Amino acid sequence: MMNNSAVEVTDLRVRRGTVEVFDGVDLAIPRGQITGLLGPSGCGKTTLMRALVGVQRIAGGTVIVLGEPAGSRQLRRRVAYGTQGAAVYGDLTVRQNLSYLASVLGAPKSDVDRVLDEVGLRDQAGQLADSVSGGQVTRVSLAMALVGSPELIVLDEPTVGLDPVLRVELWTLFRGLAERGVTMIVSSHVMDEAQRCDRLLLMRSGRIIADTTPAALLADTNTTDAEAAFLALIERDTRARAEGTSDGVRRRTRRDRREGSR
Ligand SMILES: Nc1ncnc2c1ncn2[C@@H]1O[C@H](COP(=O)(O)OP(=O)(O)O)[C@@H](O)[C@H]1O
Ligand SMILES: [Mg+2]
Repeated sequence: MMNNSAVEVTDLRVRRGTVEVFDGVDLAIPRGQITGLLGPSGCGKTTLMRALVGVQRIAGGTVIVLGEPAGSRQLRRRVAYGTQGAAVYGDLTVRQNLSYLASVLGAPKSDVDRVLDEVGLRDQAGQLADSVSGGQVTRVSLAMALVGSPELIVLDEPTVGLDPVLRVELWTLFRGLAERGVTMIVSSHVMDEAQRCDRLLLMRSGRIIADTTPAALLADTNTTDAEAAFLALIERDTRARAEGTSDGVRRRTRRDRREGSR
């Protein structure tokens, strides 16, 4: 594991209902960077994010976030989570949503104006959250995540359904936060968002099939776009599994570990 990671996950196992979502996942995420959690719908992005913020019951393994066990009290203000779909009260104004959250978190009242400025929503502050435009709703969600000045922000598919211009706008905000030292973990099922990240965790069926950077991903797969690269990795992963080896797959299964093989 790398030193001073924002997140260290070891042998994580999660069952949801009858589905075994993770069967021994290991990963580390560096601080102060944007890490993209990318993979098709159902691969486990949301479940992993839930485990990181401590709201997912786990069947085994450890999840350490900013040096503390995920979900521990000390992390309450240090970690923010933006769920898939906006978690705002539609019948409160944008400002009221932020003020309410600030009081719940015990964050300074001045945070409300600060985050309104940061996401460019000063003019919409008095509007009901239900009445702002689609792109603005996303910015309200981001503003909610910024209350309390968290060190780690986990955002689940924040750009889904946004037009290209708004997506670029949002990624510019993420980049600004990372430049200030905030660790950003952002999921997406759209591969072309990969190029905006510093690091990439590519997931497939509950496994991390690559832990890489955008440049290394393209070089490794000899492709020119992330979509093609991901397809190449999936092919490689399928082949490796069919051959019963873990070649090309960074993760060792629990069975490999038990048997001490590599
Ligand atoms: N509440 C649940 N009960 C049972 N299975 C679930 C539940 N939520 C998710 N799953 C299953 O867990 C797996 C991972 O889902 P999820 O983490 O939501 O993936 P993603 O966010 O990448 O779309 C999927 O197979 C999904 O069907
Ligand atoms: Mg999801």
